Amino acid sequence: MGTPFTWRSVLGGLSAFCAIAQAQTPSPSPTSSTAPQFTMPPEANIAPAVIPNIKDPQAVDAQTVCPGYTASNVQQTASGFTASLILLGNACNVYGTDIDTLSLTVQYQRADRLHVAIVPTHISAENATHYIIPPGYLAEPEVGESNTVSDLEFSWTNYPSFGFEVTRISTKDVLFSTKGTKIVFENQFIEFKSGLPKNYNLYGLGESVHGFRLGNNYTKTYYAADAGATVDINIYGAHPFFLETRYFTEGPDGNLALVTSDETTPNSNYTSLSHGVFSRNAHGQDILMQEDSITYRAIGGSIDLYFFPGPSQPEVTKSYLTTVGLPAMQQYWTFGFHQCRWGYTSWAELEDVVNNHTHFDIPLETIWTDIDWMLRYRDFENNPVGFDDESSEGFIQRLHDGGRHYVPIIDSAIYIPNPSNADDAYPVFERGNEAGSFLTNPDGSLYVGAVWPGYTVFPDWLSEGTEQWWTDEMVRYHQITGYDGAWIDMSEISSFCVGSCGSNNLTLQPVHVPFALPGEPANPVLIYPEGFSKTNATEAASASAARASWSSTYPTISVTSSSYLRTTPTQDIRNGALAVAAISPNATHADGTLEYDIHNLWGHGILKATYNSLSTIFPGTRPFILGRSTFAGSGSYAAHWGGDNWSNWPSMIFSIPQALSMSLFGIPMFGVDTCGFADNTDMELCNRWMQLSAFFPFYRNHNILGAISQEAYRWSSVIDASKSAMAIRYQLLPYIYTLFHHAHTKGETVMRALAWEFPHDPSLASADRQFMLGPSILVIPVLEQGATSVNGVLPGLIEGEEVWYDWYNNTVVPVPTQANSTIPAPLGHIPVYVRGGSVLPLQQAGLTTRDARNSPWDILVALDKDGSADGNLYLDDGFSVTPNTTLYAEFKAQNRKLDTFIQHGGWVEENSLRNVTIWGVEQTKTIKFNGHPVPLKDVYFDGNKHTLVVSGFKISAWAGKSWSLEW
Ligand code: NOJ
Repeated sequence: MGTPFTWRSVLGGLSAFCAIAQAQTPSPSPTSSTAPQFTMPPEANIAPAVIPNIKDPQAVDAQTVCPGYTASNVQQTASGFTASLILLGNACNVYGTDIDTLSLTVQYQRADRLHVAIVPTHISAENATHYIIPPGYLAEPEVGESNTVSDLEFSWTNYPSFGFEVTRISTKDVLFSTKGTKIVFENQFIEFKSGLPKNYNLYGLGESVHGFRLGNNYTKTYYAADAGATVDINIYGAHPFFLETRYFTEGPDGNLALVTSDETTPNSNYTSLSHGVFSRNAHGQDILMQEDSITYRAIGGSIDLYFFPGPSQPEVTKSYLTTVGLPAMQQYWTFGFHQCRWGYTSWAELEDVVNNHTHFDIPLETIWTDIDWMLRYRDFENNPVGFDDESSEGFIQRLHDGGRHYVPIIDSAIYIPNPSNADDAYPVFERGNEAGSFLTNPDGSLYVGAVWPGYTVFPDWLSEGTEQWWTDEMVRYHQITGYDGAWIDMSEISSFCVGSCGSNNLTLQPVHVPFALPGEPANPVLIYPEGFSKTNATEAASASAARASWSSTYPTISVTSSSYLRTTPTQDIRNGALAVAAISPNATHADGTLEYDIHNLWGHGILKATYNSLSTIFPGTRPFILGRSTFAGSGSYAAHWGGDNWSNWPSMIFSIPQALSMSLFGIPMFGVDTCGFADNTDMELCNRWMQLSAFFPFYRNHNILGAISQEAYRWSSVIDASKSAMAIRYQLLPYIYTLFHHAHTKGETVMRALAWEFPHDPSLASADRQFMLGPSILVIPVLEQGATSVNGVLPGLIEGEEVWYDWYNNTVVPVPTQANSTIPAPLGHIPVYVRGGSVLPLQQAGLTTRDARNSPWDILVALDKDGSADGNLYLDDGFSVTPNTTLYAEFKAQNRKLDTFIQHGGWVEENSLRNVTIWGVEQTKTIKFNGHPVPLKDVYFDGNKHTLVVSGFKISAWAGKSWSLEW
């Protein structure tokens, strides 16, 4: 098989290349008006191209040449067994060196979790982190008391080589099987493969920008990258978990028969069973989804699989999230609307933006700053021009007085000063360096990459002093500017040059990044959304003429393409260039661990550290963190946004499957850059998008430097559209908060796929252009330029199983004659439906969540076809990690009576109950509250709309005992 390839040898090559790139003649930056600034040459960010294995016709197929293993020495344990796997014949050394003895451990860890682990038998202290994730970085899932009662059965064979199978006992359905294929385990290459049914329904395996149902012709690559929200490539985070759903029909004999065709006719008569598989490997990986199989290929780590039997999606999700970490509970205010942009230049400008929202009566909760707040883009130092320390105090005070909040960006990389310039001191770096907080090169020197401020170093979360240093810096900066949360960016970890490019160039500091920033003269923002030429012909024509003479260079991600390095491990990673737009895999941690082994975990590390920092700053308060790079379990610490999308319609479309996947990964606090990040937006796109994002848990408008302004108040139609959707969102805040409580305590989802809420209908398996917010709210957005209506599905309506009410006019949606209804949706209107069977606790909309939270309550009861409904409400102080007092209420409507069951955890709710509104009421008798007739003046009944509204309650909602209402 030739000489075994190692990444370590290639990396040497990359550093040499980088040194050559850096030997360019310094050129003054075109943008610098005062002193000339050295601009890194574009070559600094170019790496030799590597042809990915899956695109290389000459790549050797490991399945063909490798021998596989044979199992022996089987030993029963209390909850499973162990065995040895011995290489069956000559090593193939196909992309590394075969490991001849492996240890297999099969453990029934919980009734809902089977663990299968295969690791090299001889792991030494020196190579441990290559195979096993360092527990200090990511804790191993807790086992608790092992349980051998499971609906999963593990079986194995040695013929023709070792293979295993996981079967659902109750249905005899094989869920995962490597039988008949080889397990390949080398020091830098692992491969195993399972068969799957035809037309399988697989979800998850993110982070990706891809349709919700992944399909059977798709390769998912894992290598955290600062690549924008680009379709189908590896982007910011790694979540190697999938959910598979299989639909069955019941045969005459009572046995279940698998449905293998793409079922398109809505039909609720099927049974569906779901299971989940988590591969706990943080290495670079490809996961190949092919016609009837799934293949895992990794460049290190081990085989570390967790199987979850379900059998429903909520059960799978609960099992997975209780394995990797339940989502963090968010503070109440974080559900308000957030405004951000790259390019706000001063506290005064921020205050104007806030005031403009108030002026136009648009709710605004939080104002954000991008890197503009920093002095020369350096963390923790305010730019005295525009963002001076002194003025920040008054600014924050006024925001807080108005019930609003401030969140600044904090970048992952730390500026390293120019050693030959005494004026270039940067104490943040000095303190971190003293604490040994930064990654090094293999020779022990600092690893110096480049990000916005110029050459930078990168925190090492495996070094003992780093978390404390980070917390000290966060605390110190908070004393200057009292921020309320942290936005952690560039955490893949991103670097704009290949290798330790700054090592020998620090005397050039501060350098300009190797590309023009958006909006700089060399990189004007000139692109508008599709359809702009139809709605704004003149501007579109001049933008397109200007564009013809410019080429956009943000961000520069390139590899040389003339000659390829071949026979690399596996990756379809940006043409294989692991070292582009991220620090190189040879960057070394304090304990000797290479970035190669834990690259995908860096983003998780900074979120964990920042969580601890915010817990120090705000003791007992839930930290609010928005993070870009995430790993399995990061949802316990942070919210996440979809990264650098574009101001175009596809980016808006993809935001829905992105969010649904994040629900599966346990990061419910998710949203995307509303109105689009890169390029210019326009009125129509922003109008539709502000309405769509109002139903995402995290709701933020964010924009790139140099693009036209896109706050909602820039267009009168967007003001109206935003206010209309926000009014619904703010009324629903108690419902959304309660959904988060369930996510945080029980692993439920907040944004939901139709396939999960209607598991008996295979026609919904791919539905990702509409979604549910919790079990009760259905949103069918317009996602197309120029449209005035939308084709949508109201599940279960045709069979008469479900009743849907139009949010806006309280009326029941008539049964359509076809599966897809054409729903009128002129600009400014987003169709929203309430599912019959729901009880929704509501408060009044307000300009801030504080206003909304201090308003009277309404209860909306939407009856189902049987006249029943239920719902619940969780309340607390809205910020404490462990609230002293809570309240939980359950609502049940049936037989023309609504009962509330209130469990007081000591919470005293001051706000009164204003109305109870009941939809779907055919007729009424005497209306009684707690058995006593309600005066007629407090009753309104519209027989045509079947709507009953009862008011005049003399109770502070939830303060008294449980109560009832009859009609
Ligand atoms: C990349 C982030 O994804 C984006 O949101 C931000 O505006 C830029 N970095 C500049 O900080």
